[in-house]
Formats: sequence, C-alpha cells, structure tokens
Amino acid sequence: MKNAKRVAIEAALKSGRFIKGSVGKTYNISYKGRDNLVTDIDKKSEHMIIDRISSAFPEHSILSEESSPRSGAGPYKWIIDPLDGTTNFAHAFPFFAVSIGLERSGKIEMGVVYDPMRDELFYAESGKGAYLNGKKIHVSRTKRLTDSFLATGFPYGRRRKGDNVKYFRKFLVRSLAVRRAGSASLDLSYVACGRFDGFWEMGLHPWDSAAGMIIIEEAGGSVTTFAGSDYTPYHNKILAHNGNIHEEMVMFLKK
Ligand code: IPD
Repeated sequence: MKNAKRVAIEAALKSGRFIKGSVGKTYNISYKGRDNLVTDIDKKSEHMIIDRISSAFPEHSILSEESSPRSGAGPYKWIIDPLDGTTNFAHAFPFFAVSIGLERSGKIEMGVVYDPMRDELFYAESGKGAYLNGKKIHVSRTKRLTDSFLATGFPYGRRRKGDNVKYFRKFLVRSLAVRRAGSASLDLSYVACGRFDGFWEMGLHPWDSAAGMIIIEEAGGSVTTFAGSDYTPYHNKILAHNGNIHEEMVMFLKK
C-alpha cells in the first residue's frame, strides 16, 4: 500500500511526541472499568492518528481503542492503540507506546510501535523484515526455557478474565526471570529485538497486539495461541517467542 509506511510512522512519531510532552502534566482521567483508566491524552493522541490516517486513506476501516469502529469500503483496516500502557503513563512510569497496525483482508501487513521516552521506533512490513530505528532486528537465540527472560501482562478486569497468576508462578520458577512492565505492544517489540525471549498474556485486545505481532514474525519469531495454533489479533490469548522455547511454553500454558 503506497504511502502507508510513511503515514503510519509520521502519525506514531507525532502522537508519541505529544504524549511525551504531556507526562507529569495535568490531564483528565476517566474509568472504563474499576481498574481500566483512560486519560484525555489517550483521546487526543487517537484523534491525531485517526485524522492523519483517514485524510490519507478515507476509504479504509479503522479499529481504535478509544472510539467506535469505522467501516470503510476496501480490504484495509487500521488497528490502533493511541497510548498502550495508559496506567504507566498516568503515573509517569516511562513504559508506554503508540501502536499502529495495518490489516489487509484479515492479515496483518504492517506494524509500527513507537516508544517516545526512549525514542525507539519498531517497524515491520510483511516480507520485508523488522527494524528498530532503521536497523534490522532479530529475536534472541536462547534455546531453553530455563535460560529465558520472559514478560507477561495482567489484563484489566482481572477478576473476570481468568487467572494469569497461575501461569506467572509456573514460569517464574522455570525461567530465568519474568517481568510485567505494562505495555503489551512494547513487550512484543522487545521479544522481536531479542530483549525478551518470550511473552504471554490473556485478555488482550486487537489494538494491543496487531502491530507487535508482525514485528515479531518479521524478526524471525513466532506468535500463536496458548495451544500453539495460529494467532490473529482477535484471539485474546497470545504466546510470542523466539521460536526455540515454543514447546516448553505451550506445555505449561496448556495445563
Ligand atoms: C494495556 C497494556 C498492558 C496489558 C493490558 C492492556 P492499555 O493496554 O498493554 O500491558 O497488560 O492487557 O490492556 O489499556 O494501556 O492501552
């Protein structure tokens, strides 16, 4: 898709810089559930991204975290998280990102994840590799779960969405270490560039994983469901890893 890369990167950089400039300032917080907050910065960031994308591609569909879906005419759908890691942002904990994925006829073709605090731009396009600030990236080569540095997340509405604590406990004792940093799109990007060896989470939404998924696949890793079958961003259980620790992780996630 001509210009899609440029538009996605420009939108991610612009809204990311706006978010960075808003850290620690006053903003309004509202709640989508007891533990799921949203700030007016999420909404302003979303507005900026959707404006940019819909003026470049008025016929495309848009699925974005803070607004109602828009259906367009053709096969393309943008899947957007305008501020992934809102709780971190609202506490000035510097781990959050802008995540923009592009789906074509049900398949993710392109993804951009931008961390404005570190000025790190992760990017991938189907068949063209994955990049961090323009340099090609690759998943880690760690071979065994016992040596693996893992990440996970705990979804909002934890009481309804099942118990990740049981998996957390299993992996904590069987891996090198587990982190819960609070931005799924960045966790996935960190698997892609080899900082983490694997990541799992339940209760995710398409906007949390669409961009990160293709970044990992293009970096040589793999993304599946907990059972090890094909993943799309519409599944809510995700397992992402470097390709070597798949069987061991699936074994513990199946139980
Ligand atoms: C959240 C973050 C978090 C994950 C949650 C997501 P949001 O996204 O990605 O790491 O554990 O499941 O909902 O709401 O901050 O955009």
